[in-house]
Amino acid sequence: MKVLGICGSPRRQEESSSASLVGTVLQNIGLEYEMISLRGRNISGCIACLQCAGDNICKVRDDMAELRQAVVQADAYVIGAPNYFNSLNALTHAFLERWFQFRHNEGDLLWGKLGVAVGVGSMNGSLPAEQIEKFFMYNFIETVASVSGHGPAPCYSCGYGESCGIGLPRMLHGNGVCITEEITPDVTKQPDVLEAAAEAGRTLGRRLSGKHNRQQVASRMQRKLMESMGMEL
Ligand SMILES: Cc1cc2nc3c(=O)[nH]c(=O)nc-3n(C[C@H](O)[C@H](O)[C@H](O)COP(=O)(O)O)c2cc1C
Repeated sequence: MKVLGICGSPRRQEESSSASLVGTVLQNIGLEYEMISLRGRNISGCIACLQCAGDNICKVRDDMAELRQAVVQADAYVIGAPNYFNSLNALTHAFLERWFQFRHNEGDLLWGKLGVAVGVGSMNGSLPAEQIEKFFMYNFIETVASVSGHGPAPCYSCGYGESCGIGLPRMLHGNGVCITEEITPDVTKQPDVLEAAAEAGRTLGRRLSGKHNRQQVASRMQRKLMESMGMEL
């Protein structure tokens, strides 16, 4: 059993809240895992050329090609990403759009696998997690847990946060705000979020170590997707 962790933040892993939470989930699974960062990777969105329809292999020449094997070989996924403009950030969205290549010819490359969705945002981390969950559902992957936390808005480190009128530090703490470690949101200092991430890892570990029947999971997810679209199987 191998779990693939994906950090969809374009920031360095050491400073990424998404990476931190994905890491906590992975460390608690108790199974082999690999963590891949999308930072610096050139991944475009799906271009709808349909060249993958025959063999489930995307023909777009960019950095997604080298990630394909890792996605196919994993038994489960832990995907974390930041909220950008109240949505999933573009890099993670592009990466997940390209999973279209796995959906043809019975599409059983991903069907019935398990996933954990992780989202972070300065105001709202659950939105990106919900969108990751939706991508999971479209691939008949069951989300066993969803985790979200508050990371620091860029305004806490851009250098202008204390004076900028539209920055979060001034909006939340008023004029004359002094940016300190204490007022800077940090997922590693949010015990409930860290516990939720650890529990998500343990849950995924238990599910993978138990009798995980991909066919059953896939059928359930297929029904769930149809219901979400107001249709019946
Ligand atoms: C371009 C951009 C747009 C953002 N928009 C939002 C937003 O709409 N809502 C929100 O809660 N956070 C927003 N943020 C803040 C990030 O979600 C936050 O900094 C997060 O902790 C970054 O995660 P990372 O450290 O893993 O990159 C935005 C950040 C950037 C760079």
